[in-house]
Order: sequence, then C-alpha cells, then structure tokens
Amino acid sequence: MSRLSIVAYVVGVVCFIVSCSFSVFYGYKVVTHQLPTEEKEPNDDRYHFVLIPEELDNDYWRLVEEGARAAAKKYDVLLEYTGPRQANFDDHLKTIEMSAAAKVDGIMTQGLSDEQFSPLINRIVEKGIPVITVDTDAANSKRLAYIGTDNYYSGFLAGKALIADTNGQANVAIITGSFNKNHQRQRVQGFKDAIQSEKGIRIVAIEESQISRVRAFEKAYQILQEHPEVTAFFGTSALDGIGVAEVVEKFNKQKQIYIIGFDLLKETQKYIRKGTIQATVVQEPFEMGYRAVKMMIDLREGKKVPSTIHTATRILRKYDLPPYLNNIKGVR
Ligand code: BGC
Repeated sequence: MSRLSIVAYVVGVVCFIVSCSFSVFYGYKVVTHQLPTEEKEPNDDRYHFVLIPEELDNDYWRLVEEGARAAAKKYDVLLEYTGPRQANFDDHLKTIEMSAAAKVDGIMTQGLSDEQFSPLINRIVEKGIPVITVDTDAANSKRLAYIGTDNYYSGFLAGKALIADTNGQANVAIITGSFNKNHQRQRVQGFKDAIQSEKGIRIVAIEESQISRVRAFEKAYQILQEHPEVTAFFGTSALDGIGVAEVVEKFNKQKQIYIIGFDLLKETQKYIRKGTIQATVVQEPFEMGYRAVKMMIDLREGKKVPSTIHTATRILRKYDLPPYLNNIKGVR
C-alpha cells in the first residue's frame, strides 16, 4: 500500500468516526427535543380532584367542567370529570363513593338530597377527604363549602320576571328537573313565593322532566292537551325551556304563550332571539367550576374558605343579548 493510500485510508476512517459521532449526538438531540414537553406525569400535579355532576354530557355541566379545567391547568391539578351518563341518584352516589375509595384529594359534587347525599358526604369528610358542593347544596351536611346559585332566590327572580312580563295575568305550568332534588325544589319554592300575592297568576300544572329535554317536551305537550288555558311556562332546569319551546312552536302558539327558562345554552339563546322564549335565569357555571377548584386547593393548604359563596344570578331577555355570544366565556 502506498503512503498516499494509507493517508487516504486514515482520513476516511477519521471522517467516518466523526460523522457517526455527529449523527449520534444530533440524533439524540432531535429525539429528546421531540419528547412532548406538555405531557406531565400524573405525579407532577399537586392534587387529584374529581368533579361529579348529575349528568356527564349535559351542556350546562360541560361549562362547569370547562371552568374547573381552566383552574386545574393554571394551578397544576389533575382534574377528573366523571359521573352518570344520564341523571340517576344511585349512579351518582356510587361514583362519589368510588372516588372516595380511590383516596382522591378532593371531591366536588352536588348535594342533591339531604336523605341520600348528606350521610355519604358526612362519611367522606369524616375520613379526611374534603367535599365541596357545587351548583346544588346539601347545606346541613358536613360539606366544607358550597359554591353556586342561590337557588331559592333564582326561582324568586323568575317569578318576579313572569309577573312583570305578563302584567300579572297568567295560567302557569311548571316543568321542573325533579320533585326531589334540593335545587329544583328551592327554585319552585322561590317562584311560588314570588307570585303568591298575585291574584291574576295561578299555577295549573307542575310536571317533572328528569332534566331531559325529550321528557320536558313530552310533559309540555301533555300539559297543553290537558290544560288549554295555560298561558305561561316556567322551566326550572337547563333543558326544560328548550323542550317547552319546541312544543309551543309545534302548536304555533308563540304569540299566546310566555316561556321563562333557566340558563343560557346556545339553543336557549336561539329561542330567545326568535322570541319563543321570553326570558331566562342566567347562572355562572364556568365560574362555579373555576372557583370550586381554587377553593379546594385553599382547603388542602389549610386556608379558610367561606362556607357559602353565591355566584351571580340574573334575568336575561332578548334585548340583553349582545349580537355575538359565541366568544363569551360561559356560553355553550
Ligand atoms: C342546573 C343543574 C342541572 C341542569 C340540568 C341547571 O339549571 O343548575 O343542576 O343539572 O340544569 O340541565
């Protein structure tokens, strides 16, 4: 082998080694840079909280979830959102029980009834897992805090709005989410108290929708058949007014029948714009979720939190609707 070919051979080997080292080095860098930086190990989160609504896929609850997720992201909390597919006491209670058994750091849920929910909430709190009620309170339980609407007052506001809008003359039918859930009962009671001294206003029927829009439709349909004298409806949960509006349009009675509903879901908005629903009671679901998570963190860190926080409630009519609501937080 000539000297020249030896030199060429050595240079070739050196180049090969250098290029291999570069590929290994940069290859490693590329791979490590491509590791998802956003994804955290569950252990990176400070706490594991669970939010359990009465119905998982209900648009109203998805707004509460959005608020809770926003806070969870901000404060590095692992948030689980789980519960019954369709409103059902047993499934709801079972989910709460299972979350407690999994030793989560905090449970946020509704206090739907004193008989069924309070004993379970009490047991869980006694075991050292904090419980906050959201949207619906079990005020006599040992829950550490409540955040949500003042449900009695919201029903009272609805009653006063109905009096004003109908000039104190109406035969009212009520469609309520449930006869035995705390918040629904309080809304109906507030409404009844508000209209109590109005001679021109009578409640002629009250039916349950089990918070289902289809059931609200069926009940409103049946009421209009059995009570043609009805001139106004009050729907006490998020999908009731929508179900009623469908029936009223079907009977083409938009001009004769007044509807006041609850919440401001996109469909409710649509019916308000069309003039089928005249008014709705607005709650703050996003805010409830957000603040519930924040309060839970405060509790975990030994800070004091108020025992009851009432989020804002107001009546909204067509002229209160801004032209575009799609980008507003809290509308779904
Ligand atoms: C209530 C929720 C309920 C929802 C049902 C809302 O008005 O605040 O508790 O689950 O209606 O659609």
